[in-house]
Amino acid sequence: AEPGWTETTDVVVVGSGIAGLTAALYLREQGLHVTVVTKVNIDDGSTRWAQGGIAAVLDPLDTPQAHAYDTEIAGVGLCDPAAVRVLVEEGPARIRELIRRGAEFDRNPDGSLMLTREGGHRADRIVHAGGDATGAEVQRALHEAVRRDPWIRLVEHALVLDLLRAADGRACGITLHVLGEGSEDGVGAVLARAVVLATGGMGQIFSSTTNPSVSTGDGVALALRAGAEVTDVEFVQFHPTSFVSSGTAGAGFSRGPTSGFPPVDPVQRPLISEALRGEGAHLIDEAGKRFMVGQHELAELAPRDVVAKGIYRVLRATGADHVYLDARHLGREFLEGRFPTIMASTRAAGVDPATDLIPVAPAAHYASGGVRTDLHGRTSIDGLYACGEVACTGVHGANRLASNSLLEGLVFARRIADDIARELPPPAEPVRAAAGPAWVVDPAIRTDLQRAMTRGAGVLRSADSLETAAKELARLAEQRAKPNNAAWEVTNLLTVAATLVAAAGSRRETRGCHWREDHPNAADEWRGHLLNAIRPDGVL
Ligand code: SIN
Repeated sequence: AEPGWTETTDVVVVGSGIAGLTAALYLREQGLHVTVVTKVNIDDGSTRWAQGGIAAVLDPLDTPQAHAYDTEIAGVGLCDPAAVRVLVEEGPARIRELIRRGAEFDRNPDGSLMLTREGGHRADRIVHAGGDATGAEVQRALHEAVRRDPWIRLVEHALVLDLLRAADGRACGITLHVLGEGSEDGVGAVLARAVVLATGGMGQIFSSTTNPSVSTGDGVALALRAGAEVTDVEFVQFHPTSFVSSGTAGAGFSRGPTSGFPPVDPVQRPLISEALRGEGAHLIDEAGKRFMVGQHELAELAPRDVVAKGIYRVLRATGADHVYLDARHLGREFLEGRFPTIMASTRAAGVDPATDLIPVAPAAHYASGGVRTDLHGRTSIDGLYACGEVACTGVHGANRLASNSLLEGLVFARRIADDIARELPPPAEPVRAAAGPAWVVDPAIRTDLQRAMTRGAGVLRSADSLETAAKELARLAEQRAKPNNAAWEVTNLLTVAATLVAAAGSRRETRGCHWREDHPNAADEWRGHLLNAIRPDGVL
């Protein structure tokens, strides 16, 4: 489709979670005009669902070197040490700036920030808010700050389609579909001197995920279509402990401290924060055995991939669909005060963590890979930046360390704003108004796609399972439809799913959250990154 309407700004930011809103606010501090476009409502992304917190060195006895060490151990040889250094050294200042913007974190009686621990961390370095409602508080504070600024234009219900390029190849805007806007089909364009992708993750390619329904890999799909470098998409992290309710999937889901949101997607599972294990909860099997003890020196607090694998082995051996988290010994008073979100969501499904075991299982949680960037958030296309989960800055390697994701959004948003302000080119005319993929698939394939990915490219993978998944995706790709929002979105899901399957098939080793049954060890020759691409005609 051709854009029916256009508007012009200095910088267009796509996405409205911690990465997008923080980038917008820092860009404003540089005196630039910003348009933020977001697919549904401003608060509908993953950020508000984050529970555990934000990791940063805030304890005088902790050091950036120790935080870097834990980050790189979790990343199993694939972290970029320079990017990790940026993350751990600049993180504390960015958190203080977030506090100045209005975010209120939990504090000790003496007024100092309360710090907790999660898997893979060897020190208490995680700030949290509202107990286990950190993301909701961060989103609230950023949302309010953005609304206060008349020079940030917010466009909601706007699905990004494609990147606009100037004659010299530089990014100079985006095409998008805005419900109820402009021409009949609502396809328009925002022309800008720089584009920041902050579209979040792709958890919705699987049948159970902690991500909300909007996490469909739109930014990675756009980048693949534009030919930007994308890397490490095989490294999807499965959170060890999502809540398995005995009713229908998603039943009893707490809407979190914010209300008035549309019903959650059935694929989204409530998170049971790692911080609950950080505060002493144990994982046990049906027989009551703490099966992580003896598997890793940190037991339940081993890095996330280790714990997810430990749980998966129990599930495979027993045929059960969950193990248990035992938090009963922490006591009702402590649980109510420290974990109000978890208490509300489990209790709504008839499970009271003060007296009952909590059924849990791994669910897709975080894309460690994404659109490749340098230390300033620059992608391989001039003028195109990527920030937050959509990006692959190199800080996560093969497996992200707990609570480093909100931190990455904060740190790199600031670097991106500084870089854009330093390098801002004059406005340019787009040479071609691409608006969406060349062909789109029927939105009805969404569930089949999720099932194929969960079976073939989920926690445990093999050459056979990946081949089966690839065949199924190719079959689903034949089911074409007319372009509309749902079709574009599912086509993005299909694009990133097929890219992931191809990468996971190529990487014949087990490393971090990429677990190959047929190649169970890490191999030195695989200690590197695969560049992911799609054919120019988009055919899978
Ligand atoms: C959690 O609270 O367990 C999630 C933290 C994270 O994903 O980093």
